[in-house]
Amino acid sequence: MQIHENFSLLPFNTFRIDVKARYFSTFSNIDELSELIGQKSRLTTLILGGGSNILFTKDYAGVVLKNEIKGIELQHEDADHVYVKVGAGENWHHFVLHCINHNWAGVENLSLIPGNVGASPIQNIGAYGVELDDVFWSLEAFHLSERKIHTFTATDCEFGYRDSVFKNQFKNEFAILSVTFQLKKKPIYHISYGAITEELEKMGVKDLSIKAVSQAVINIRSSKLPDPQKIANAGSFFKNPEVTVSKYEELKSAFPNIVAYPLAKGNVKLAAGWMIEQAGWKGYRKGDAGCHAKQALVLVNYGNATGKEIYDLSEEILQSVKNKFGVALEREVNII
Ligand code: FAD
Ligand code: EPU
Repeated sequence: MQIHENFSLLPFNTFRIDVKARYFSTFSNIDELSELIGQKSRLTTLILGGGSNILFTKDYAGVVLKNEIKGIELQHEDADHVYVKVGAGENWHHFVLHCINHNWAGVENLSLIPGNVGASPIQNIGAYGVELDDVFWSLEAFHLSERKIHTFTATDCEFGYRDSVFKNQFKNEFAILSVTFQLKKKPIYHISYGAITEELEKMGVKDLSIKAVSQAVINIRSSKLPDPQKIANAGSFFKNPEVTVSKYEELKSAFPNIVAYPLAKGNVKLAAGWMIEQAGWKGYRKGDAGCHAKQALVLVNYGNATGKEIYDLSEEILQSVKNKFGVALEREVNII
C-alpha cells in the first residue's frame, strides 16, 4: 500500500486527461482504506473506480484512493433468486459475464458498461431498458470522516435516472465497499428496447438466453459507442432531459422528427443525442476535443485534449442546444 506523490492520473481515467493527484494510493480492504484515510485526514478524498465517468479539469489537490476490493460471493438463495455480494473493485462487465456463466439473470442488458461495481449505484447505471436498481439489494459503504460502515437498502439510495443519494446529499462522503445483487434464477427478458430484437434476429438466435441478449447488447454498443481503449471518452456526456408534455408538444410542432420517450409519470424524455446532432455538433472537432461522429451524446479526446478543453466544448454544446430548443442539458459525467 504505497502512497505516491504528484502522481499522474492519465492511465486511471478513460478520457485520458493528464492531471496529477497530490497523493494517490490503492486499497484492497477496509483496513487499508481506514489507514490511508487516517494518514491523510486533513485532505479531501476522491474514491476512484475505473475512471470511466469522470472528467478531470485540473490537478487534484487531495488524495485519490483507487478501490481494488475484490470478490464475488453467493450469499444465499430462495426459490426464485440468488443474492450475490460483489467487491466494489470488481470490473462491472467481468461481473456480468460471471452472472451469465452461472445462469443468474438480470444484468445481461447492462453488458459492456465500463467501470467497476462500486460506482454502479452512484449514478444507477442503466442501458437497454434495465437500470441497476432493478437488481440492487443493498450495499455497504464506509463513511470517510466517521470511519464507520453503513448499510444502504434500495430505499436509502433514492435511485433515480442516473441519480442516487451518492450524487446528492452524500456526495464524496462514502466509499462504497461492496454491492449485493438480487438476481433471478429464471430470466425475464427485456428485448423490446432499441434494436435488441432486430439484433437477435440478425444473429440467428432461435432459443433466447441471457447469453444471447448479452451478446446482442454488446454488438449494438460496439457499433456506435467508441471503445475507450481506442478513442478516449466517458460515455454519454449529458443526461437525456425530461420536459413537460406541453413543452414537448411545442417542440414537436417546430421539430416534427424530434426523438422522445413518454415517461410513466407523465413527462417526456428527449434524446439529447438527437438535439446535439440537430444543433450541428456531431463529428465536430476542435483541437483534440470532439463530439463523436457516431453518437453525438459522447464527447471524445482524440489525443492530448485537456479536461478544460473538453469542458469548454460541453459548455458550447449546452448553450447551442439551449438556444435552439430552449432545453437545458445537464452533464452526466462527474466534473472534478
Ligand atoms: P469512476 O469514473 O471511477 O467514478 C465515478 C464517480 O463515482 C466518481 O464521482 C467517483 O468518485 C465515484 N466512485 C467510484 N467508485 C466509488 C466507490 N467505490 N465508492 C464511492 N464513490 C465511488 N453508464 C451508464 O449508466 N450506462 C451506459 O450505458 C454507459 N456506457 C458507457 C460507455 C462508455 C464507452 C463509457 C466510457 C462509459 C459509459 N458509462 C455508462 C459511464 C460509466 O461506465 C459508469 O458511470 C460507471 O458506473 C463508472 O464506473 P467507474 O468505476 O469507472 O467510476
Ligand atoms: N440519436 C441521434 N443522434 C445521435 C445519437 C442519438 O439522433 O447522435 C437519437 C437516435 O434516434 C437514437 C436515440 O437518439 O435512436 C437514442 O440513442 P441511443 O439509443 O444511442 O441512446 P442514448 O439515449 O443516446 C442512452 C444512455 C446510454 C445507454 C443507451 C442505451 C443516457 C444519458 N445515455 O443513450 O448510456 O447506453 O441509452 O440504453 O441516458 C451512459 O450513460 O454513459 C450511456 C452510454
